[in-house]
Amino acid sequence: MTRHLSPLERLPRLPSIVRERVEPYFEALDVMTAVKDPKIFASLGPSGVRGLILQRGKQGVPTLIGSKHKAHFDWSYPSDQPEMLELYRRAKAGQWDGERDLDWSISVDPDNPEVPMVPENFFNADKIREFGIKLTPAEGLRLTHSTVAWMLSQFLHGEQGALLAAAQVTEAVQFFDGKLYGATQVVDEARHVEVFHRYLDTKLDKLYQINDNLFVIIDALMADSRWDMKFLGMQIMVEGLALGAFGMLYRITKEPLLKSLLGRVIQDEARHVHYGVLALREHIRTQLSEAERQEREDWAFEVALLMRNRFLSYEVYEEWFEGLLTRAQWQEVVNTSPGLELFRQVMFSRLVPNLRDIGLLSDRIKPYYAEAGLAKYFDGVSARELDETTMISALDAAGSFEIAAE
Ligand SMILES: [Fe+2]
Ligand SMILES: [Fe+2]
Repeated sequence: MTRHLSPLERLPRLPSIVRERVEPYFEALDVMTAVKDPKIFASLGPSGVRGLILQRGKQGVPTLIGSKHKAHFDWSYPSDQPEMLELYRRAKAGQWDGERDLDWSISVDPDNPEVPMVPENFFNADKIREFGIKLTPAEGLRLTHSTVAWMLSQFLHGEQGALLAAAQVTEAVQFFDGKLYGATQVVDEARHVEVFHRYLDTKLDKLYQINDNLFVIIDALMADSRWDMKFLGMQIMVEGLALGAFGMLYRITKEPLLKSLLGRVIQDEARHVHYGVLALREHIRTQLSEAERQEREDWAFEVALLMRNRFLSYEVYEEWFEGLLTRAQWQEVVNTSPGLELFRQVMFSRLVPNLRDIGLLSDRIKPYYAEAGLAKYFDGVSARELDETTMISALDAAGSFEIAAE
């Protein structure tokens, strides 16, 4: 039987130097052609070209993204959403100061094995060795250091996206109580940018560029004129995924400053996701046609897959292994690394239940999530049932844990 080779499979015949240049483009094309629905393609496609092919997020500063949403004013100042008003009250009372409330005098040594940032088996060192690269223990620690800095850099870039998206959403949302609440989220996100940046800059001494796939999502939601797509992209997808990742890192890190920083941020994020669920739940159930609902359901799934399959820390690969490993080999290292794999899983623990709650997890789409290995989160607790105190105490009660080897 003869089988057609995909462009990616044909690449091994190319000299390695050429291969390394063209591989990322073929991967980008793979992502683009995987999106079959023309409506989803129309909404994600242009962002895909800007993010994956042109790599706009990596072309220096500034990056300018146009947007055509409408600012929604209401001169009657209605009290229209009691639950959002309650979130606004809690947000005002829960404000903290990134300078005063975190102990920046703690000295952080990411290469100190006594206080590991993440457990030792975060990476699959055996796989790296199998591919002919032997890392000394010190190099292993530095690789972990790079990976943690990469993750925190992506958190930081996501927070900048959240800061700007929260400002847009505050303008565009039709709920007046939502606008009041939204203003507190803008402050929260500014504080998150402040503390993640300070940690990376003064404690890890490293900052990675934005991952192309994260850029695609941020670009798509910033440019979309529909407020509910901004909400879905930022409050549900990006924040939901981040919350899962923050919770995981909070539990596994032994570094005290990072742990307290994450603990603070998680409590703010719990409110943000709660707000997103409240706003979208009502909108999707009452304002959208079934066709519009399905479009959003598919969009959310495509974005989830983009993060599930493509969030592969290539920026770390380029720094450490370009020319030594192929991108396919790196992908195998990432996919078989217990810590990284667990991360990619738990990112969805907070997201999937929220999709269910807002009405974007119908029986039509469930089999696709199941196929991606995410069925175990179908019955999880949604953000509406999880306030900030409950969330952090649940994480504390679950305790720190070690990553089991496969
Ligand atoms: Fe945030
Ligand atoms: Fe947030």
